[in-house]
Amino acid sequence: MRKGYFITLEGPDGAGKTTQLQRLLTFAQQYGFETVNTREPGGTPVGDAVRGILLDPQYGEMIPLTEALLYAASRAQLVHEVIGPALDAGKVVICDRFIDSSLAYQAYGGELDFDFVLRTNVAAINGYMPDQTFILDLNPKEGLARRDASLADRMEQKSLAFHQRVREGFLALATRFPERIIVIAANRPVEDVFASIWENVGPALTALR
Ligand code: TYD
Repeated sequence: MRKGYFITLEGPDGAGKTTQLQRLLTFAQQYGFETVNTREPGGTPVGDAVRGILLDPQYGEMIPLTEALLYAASRAQLVHEVIGPALDAGKVVICDRFIDSSLAYQAYGGELDFDFVLRTNVAAINGYMPDQTFILDLNPKEGLARRDASLADRMEQKSLAFHQRVREGFLALATRFPERIIVIAANRPVEDVFASIWENVGPALTALR
C-alpha cells in the first residue's frame, strides 16, 4: 500500500532541475523524512543501459516511436525496482523527470499521438502517478545556452522548433492536469525558484507527519 509522497521535477534541459532536487532533498530530510532521489531515463541497471542508447548521438536515426517505447521501458523498470517500493515504505521520492517528459518530448516534441504516449506510460507506471509535479519553465533558447553545445546529447541536438514544442507541451500539461502540476518560472535566482517550490509542497509534506 502506498504511503509516501512522490514529487517530480520537469522542464527543459538546463532549467536547473538538479539543483532544485538537491535542495528539496535536504529540506525533506531536515523535516525528518526518509528520501529517495532518482532520475530518468535510468536509475536502475536496465534503465541506465537504455539511457545509454537513448542519449547516444550516434543513434540520430531513432524515430519518436522507438524513443517513446524506450523511455517507457526505463520508467517501468524504475517504478518496479525503486519508486514503487520506496512509496510503499512511506518514503518521500523525488524524481528528476518522469511521465510528463515523455508527454512533452515524445508527444508534443516528437508529434506522436498524445493518447498513445499517455496510455503506454500509464501502463509503465503501474498506478504510481506523482502527487506533485513542478515544471521549471524556461525559454528553450536560454536552457540550451546554459549547456556546452559541444557536449550536447542526442535529445539536446534536436532543433529549436522541437524544443519550443516541448515547452508548449509542458505548459499544456499544466493546464490539463492542474490538480497535480505547478509551473514555476525558472529564469530567476535559484533561491527564488526554490522558495516557489517549497511554498507549494512544504504544507503537503508537513501534513504527512
Ligand atoms: P538528461 O541528461 O537527464 O537531461 P537533463 O539533465 O536536462 O534532465 O537527459 C534526458 C533527456 O531525455 C532530456 O533531453 C529529456 C529527454 N527525455 C525524453 O525525451 N523523454 C522522457 O520520457 C525523459 C524521461 C527524458
